[in-house]
Amino acid sequence: MCGIVGAVAQRDVSPVLLEGLKRLEYRGYDSAGLAVIDDNETIQRIRILGKVNHLYEKHESSPLTGGTGIAHTRWATHGKPSVHNAHPHICRNQVALVHNGIIENHSALREQQITAGFEFESETDTEVVVNAVYQALETETDLLQAVIEATRQLEGAYALGVINNSEPHRLVAARKGSPLVIGIGIGEYFIASDVFALLPVTQQFIFLEDGDIADIRRDSLVIYDKNLQLVDRPVNISELNADVADKSGYRHYMLKEIFSQPNAIAESLENRIQDNRIVVSEFGQDAEKVFKKTNTVKISACGTSYHAGLIAACWMEEIANVPCHVEIASEYRYRKSVVSDNTLFVSISQSGETADTLAALQKAKQSDYLSTLAICNVAESSLTRESELVFLTHAGPEIGVASTKAFTTQLVSLFMLVIAIARYKGLSNDQEAEFVKQLESLPGRVNQILQYKDKIETMAKDFADKHHALFLGRGSFLPVAMEGALKLKEISYIHAEAYAAGELKHGPLALVDDDMPVVAVAPNNNLLEKLKSNLEEVHARGGELYIFADKSSEVEVSENIHVLKINGFYDFMAPILYTVPLQLLAYYVAVIKGADIDQPRNLAKSVTVE
Ligand code: M6R
Repeated sequence: MCGIVGAVAQRDVSPVLLEGLKRLEYRGYDSAGLAVIDDNETIQRIRILGKVNHLYEKHESSPLTGGTGIAHTRWATHGKPSVHNAHPHICRNQVALVHNGIIENHSALREQQITAGFEFESETDTEVVVNAVYQALETETDLLQAVIEATRQLEGAYALGVINNSEPHRLVAARKGSPLVIGIGIGEYFIASDVFALLPVTQQFIFLEDGDIADIRRDSLVIYDKNLQLVDRPVNISELNADVADKSGYRHYMLKEIFSQPNAIAESLENRIQDNRIVVSEFGQDAEKVFKKTNTVKISACGTSYHAGLIAACWMEEIANVPCHVEIASEYRYRKSVVSDNTLFVSISQSGETADTLAALQKAKQSDYLSTLAICNVAESSLTRESELVFLTHAGPEIGVASTKAFTTQLVSLFMLVIAIARYKGLSNDQEAEFVKQLESLPGRVNQILQYKDKIETMAKDFADKHHALFLGRGSFLPVAMEGALKLKEISYIHAEAYAAGELKHGPLALVDDDMPVVAVAPNNNLLEKLKSNLEEVHARGGELYIFADKSSEVEVSENIHVLKINGFYDFMAPILYTVPLQLLAYYVAVIKGADIDQPRNLAKSVTVE
């Protein structure tokens, strides 16, 4: 998604802005730009289509210098990726603006502004905002008042950074629905879409709340809330290091993140287990009270987080005996739904800023839920602020667009949630201790699976020239297959679909031929024999099978059947374990295809627009 950086300082801010954009690259973007107010109080701008490195080159050949500036990476929503659609947008050489979000009433505003004599240079929804600020400046006293006036006209979501050449040492920032942080320096202030962008210049951050407008100068920061009342927002000291976003010698962030899973899982478990029991208060002060009453669980999430929810639902019904429904947030938010008594609403999100997940939570808060719980990786996110109970996944920052360690730590967290609820539904201490033992064994077991990387890399070669792939699983391994298919399609651009293996003969079997690899997840559980029959059906029709199986599953290699045997035992941790080889398979296929693994085309890390 779009990324914003801005600064007001004594020094030349261009290097800070460029470095900030580089650090926001992981969010996904297609073009970038930067504008500063120079010593002659003129707004200077450069914009490019493509990567931030290209912006660096352009800046090197025609450097911009100035103490006040804004910069942006754009992820196209309205208007194709192009230089003229890239931000910052400037109105009549006086006001420059960067925007993240979507202005829903941009067409109506554009019509009004054309009638008022404005000419448009882009197809974006953003240009109406810079024009609106310019227009307001004709009657308002200063930039702050003009931004207030302009934002009154806007419907939709925005994070904004605005500068005005007649007030060269001032930056106004506003947020509604899209995240924005303020970084505090010494005699200088910064804004950005997230803290990573600013870690080289500060560790002190203020997280703007929805509706806030900040008036920022070198030596002062004043924040108004949505009712335009002065507010004091707390200053947070980040514990992240500036080098948190380096690849530590790995070729890609995704590979680093796959290999950091044993550690990330260990971090997720730390302090959450005491005397072989889950520490329920880790979910929040009221967790015990809420879990005791919980009769049903509703989970809402998007993408990979949704898949984590599907696996959790299997656990919840099997272990806690509590009905659990999972829904894609973008569907749930617009659907009339019925809430049964004492239902706990659980949102799952890596970023905590996914627009649909947040909107679903807002809907839930207006419905009759017992309470709301966020399972989230970002402590200071909109989702954690808006939820009554919070459980942090502690995966550490995830930079690769394809989610890996966030997923496995979500599963670990959700398993702890299941045990915590099950405790009040009759789970014995001994059973709880057994589940805790399974959890504690995970880091070592994931580590063992990572050792199969060379075998998986070899297997990946067979996929490189394929256009389609089918993933099969049953029970809690269907979402594992879904996650494997999502990973493959998002980073290698091979069309991949997951099916419940039992559904094969109801349609997808028609697709099977020697050009369609079929990937199956085959743990040695009660469904293994059923799955084997499904795989026979594929084999009989000339399909090429790639099976990830338990050592004890008695699935053997033969013509057109490739088997990777995983050091075998089956327990509730198996969906987590079987996810790892599928992550590696997707990764190596994408490497062979030469794809842009950490920033796949058209995708964004944190989807802050609908
Ligand atoms: O930050 P979130 O977990 O809310 O993000 C949800 C999805 O956008 C995300 O999981 C997406 O599907 C990933 N790119 C998948 O790898």
